[in-house]
Amino acid sequence: MAEQKATNITYHAGNVTAEERQALTKNNPCVVWLTGLSACGKSTIAVALEQVLIQRGHLAYVLDGDNIRHGLNKNLGFSPDDRTENIRRIGEVSKLFVDAGVIAITSFISPYKADRQTARELVKEGDFVEVFVDASIETCTKRDPKGLYEKALRGEIKHFTGVSPDAPYEAPEAPEVHLDSNTLSIDACVEKLIDYLEKRGTFAG
Ligand code: ADX
Repeated sequence: MAEQKATNITYHAGNVTAEERQALTKNNPCVVWLTGLSACGKSTIAVALEQVLIQRGHLAYVLDGDNIRHGLNKNLGFSPDDRTENIRRIGEVSKLFVDAGVIAITSFISPYKADRQTARELVKEGDFVEVFVDASIETCTKRDPKGLYEKALRGEIKHFTGVSPDAPYEAPEAPEVHLDSNTLSIDACVEKLIDYLEKRGTFAG
């Protein structure tokens, strides 16, 4: 739990409700929380899903680990504490997006169950869609689009998720959506996600 440092602060509610904003964007928004190893396909699925949603007229926005670490989270590394803070901030940002009427698609390894649970609890029940992008470490090592597994296996990157014993990946036990990224195409993954979002009533507006 992040400690509240500021004192003498008072929450000030606006005059517009989340429902009024949602009526404008015609979404019943949620957080689509993609989790999985580096190179499992999270970012590719995230941008493909965002494109399909926008093409269909639904406001969606991708928050991606590599990108967010260039800005909002540029002061964070890969220690357990920094990863927890990384996910805490993204959970909070996702909550703001949902409140704003936007479907938030997050693409972070988010290796710790407890941190994902914290992000889940920030939004209403049913508004957190955990998606396990499940690719084996062998698949990811073979893909290795950024050459990071090769470096990590040579010992040139410390605390690399799934490779270093001190950087485990805790797989979700009961994700809302399970995508077998070893075998499914990106299009098939996006189709499965759209199907889930439709059934959830995301596009009810
Ligand atoms: S998380 O663990 O805190 O959720 P995040 O998704 O933001 O990680 O960032 C992961 C991305 O950072 C990877 O896809 C990879 O490109 C890069 N990266 C650099 N160093 C590491 C590392 N030690 N472990 C995992 N990913 C790393």
